[in-house]
Amino acid sequence: MRYNVLLTDNSKEGIVINADTLREFFIELDNFMSSNCYYWDDILSIKDDRNEEVASDLIKNTTPFDTTKKYKTILADPPWQEQGGGKIKRGADRHYPLMKTKDIKNLDVGSLADDNCWLYLWVTNNFLKDGLEVMEHWGFRYVTNFCWAKDRFGIGYYFRGQHELCLFGVKGNLKPIHRNIPSLVYAKRTKHSKKPEESFEVFDRMSHEPRIELFARNKRNGWDSWGNEV
Ligand SMILES: C[S@@+](CC[C@H](N)C(=O)[O-])C[C@H]1O[C@@H](n2cnc3c(N)ncnc32)[C@H](O)[C@@H]1O
Repeated sequence: MRYNVLLTDNSKEGIVINADTLREFFIELDNFMSSNCYYWDDILSIKDDRNEEVASDLIKNTTPFDTTKKYKTILADPPWQEQGGGKIKRGADRHYPLMKTKDIKNLDVGSLADDNCWLYLWVTNNFLKDGLEVMEHWGFRYVTNFCWAKDRFGIGYYFRGQHELCLFGVKGNLKPIHRNIPSLVYAKRTKHSKKPEESFEVFDRMSHEPRIELFARNKRNGWDSWGNEV
């Protein structure tokens, strides 16, 4: 049986759940949701303050980039500091540690870039302005963007978000490998923050090697990877 609406009792603030239990719980939950169901992201509120400690430890111990290799394509999906206010956390920090924009900016991404290089930078809609600043700080000129349209909508006070943007910036002068690629993909939402395979197919077709994915969760053919979960 799959349900269209999933309700939980949020009246008690500050439920603390072990992060692994939480992850398993979310996977289970997905099995009960129809394709039109309000996503659990919108409804559940869990507090896990330990994530903030983990985040700051991680930033202190972040593995430096190997800057001996220069890339023609850099794809980054940073953990923007998306979170709910107060004691109740509604954001990405339930899933992985987050980074302040200044820490993302301070990553030496510029030293990974070849003289001719492209940057694909995923941003949350809240952090669009930060994304543009970070892109410029890393040495890229914003040119255009790519959009992922999702099968169901998520959170949002004004609009309920049903798309994500990936900013596209350039350094130097590279020509696209293919020139007939649309700027939009339609693809299903799956795991929290997981970008669709369809987007990688686009980036693969369009962009030059060597390529690196920053804040990756898994290794991928044709790409080097960097990130604490990879
Ligand atoms: C938005 S998610 C990336 C999702 C990924 N692109 C996907 O499609 O599954 C951000 C990732 O950055 C990682 N992360 C957070 N802080 C980090 C840090 N200081 N150093 C390296 N990775 C970090 C998180 O654990 C998470 O895996």
